[in-house]
Amino acid sequence: QRTQDRRVSRADSADDRVAARVAAGITGFENTPDTDPDLPGNREWGRGIADRMVNSQLGKATVEAALVTSEANLEAAIERGRAAAAGWQALGADERARILHRAGERMEARRAALLEVMGSECGKTLDQGDPEVSEAIDFAHFYAALGQALEQVDGAEFVPQNLTAVIPPWNFPVAIPAGGALAALAAGSSVIIKPATRAARSGAVMVEALWEAGVPRDVLQMVQFADRALGSALVADPRIDRLILTGAYETAETFRGLRQDLPILAETSGKNAIIVTPNADFDLAARDVAQSAFGHAGQKCSAASLVILVGSVAQSKRFRGQLLDAVRSLNIGTPDQLTSQMGPMIAAPSGKLQRGLTTLEPGQTWMVKPGAVDSDHPLARDASGASKLWTPGVREGVRRGSEYHLTEYFGPILGIMTASTLDEAIDMVNEIDYGLTSGLHSLDRDELKLWLSRIEAGNLYVNRGITGAIVRRQPFGGWKKSAIGAGTKAGGPSYLFGLGSWTDAPVAA
Ligand code: ALA
Repeated sequence: QRTQDRRVSRADSADDRVAARVAAGITGFENTPDTDPDLPGNREWGRGIADRMVNSQLGKATVEAALVTSEANLEAAIERGRAAAAGWQALGADERARILHRAGERMEARRAALLEVMGSECGKTLDQGDPEVSEAIDFAHFYAALGQALEQVDGAEFVPQNLTAVIPPWNFPVAIPAGGALAALAAGSSVIIKPATRAARSGAVMVEALWEAGVPRDVLQMVQFADRALGSALVADPRIDRLILTGAYETAETFRGLRQDLPILAETSGKNAIIVTPNADFDLAARDVAQSAFGHAGQKCSAASLVILVGSVAQSKRFRGQLLDAVRSLNIGTPDQLTSQMGPMIAAPSGKLQRGLTTLEPGQTWMVKPGAVDSDHPLARDASGASKLWTPGVREGVRRGSEYHLTEYFGPILGIMTASTLDEAIDMVNEIDYGLTSGLHSLDRDELKLWLSRIEAGNLYVNRGITGAIVRRQPFGGWKKSAIGAGTKAGGPSYLFGLGSWTDAPVAA
């Protein structure tokens, strides 16, 4: 019945769809519409979005208005944000929660616009963008409720911060900026958000939805910087109470260098592996490895970059054959093709990623050789004309301690390693400096127990893919060099508790 409702609702206008979902008592990820283009209704809905992607200008005006060109502009923004915090705090958690729930509803109403702008600007395919919008909506409702919970802790009083800087990445251009901003807002802080330059329009459409919901424009300000020095000045400014950052580990280190005492909550790099043992369901494992490695062209911090084959799987032609089939059957194409499962990268590969896509180390061979797709489609090329759309790469023979084993490439490449035992495979994972996501494919309880007791990663996934954390059910965060301020996971119950300080409540006279 629910599937039937979803199919029908897909063909209706955005507002009708919201109404249908609210009536059914379901919102957010748990009601993610199925983007399968063969479901009745989906094709027309998706076609409309796809047709607008190439020439989309959504968010442009907001991005232009957000440009900060001088220290004086930045100064004014910081002062405006701090001055607005008192009013936002005075509203109280219940009123703030009402506004943030409305923010979730406004993002739902703008689902099509968010998918259009993410596809146009960042190459996000509909099958990846749709759950991302749902995640942003889930953040709104979840953090609204957590903000209320902060005021109900017995025996202690939560003291909000006044100004939070949110600096998100380009790879989840709606959900990650939304998560950071909504968390800080729910905890009573004003926010200055600086979306990634390559994803600024996507961030802008999300911010517009929050303004529309009633978050005052001084409480949530969006900025873009005319030059890097202004970005550094924002982070270094002592009037910023906290930085919520998602980005490369090196970026976090650079920011820490600018201001040693800056409180940072950061999710940083990853180099994630899925271990497949002889007790795995091979069909499932091959599919999950391919999807985890190549969804969004592998440009997720959570993506699988390594698959480690244990014992007899290492020699098994069967598993390799299934993996090859799974990789070859991925639909590669621009995001305006409804069936694309792997779209373009954010830019034509350069530097480390270019090397990872073209150069093998000693002992390695290509099981699947990656290559640029020759297409004139505007969404397949960057401004210089170079191809952003590549076919995936799978390299065999990755040796322990090699550059590929230990380096994050952030693109559509998967490396195969082999281990004699599960213990050895776990050692190979734990040797990596990062610890973000990790996967095990095994139907054996003892193997599962061993892996759980030893593996060093923040998000653990068993017999499923290793991307796509879910707000409330599977909060997201890493350890080791994958996190700063570890222990508080995005979308988890403790995320807001550190976004302020605590005093003992005054004892009643
Ligand atoms: N939260 C994103 C995921 O889990 C990064 O894939």
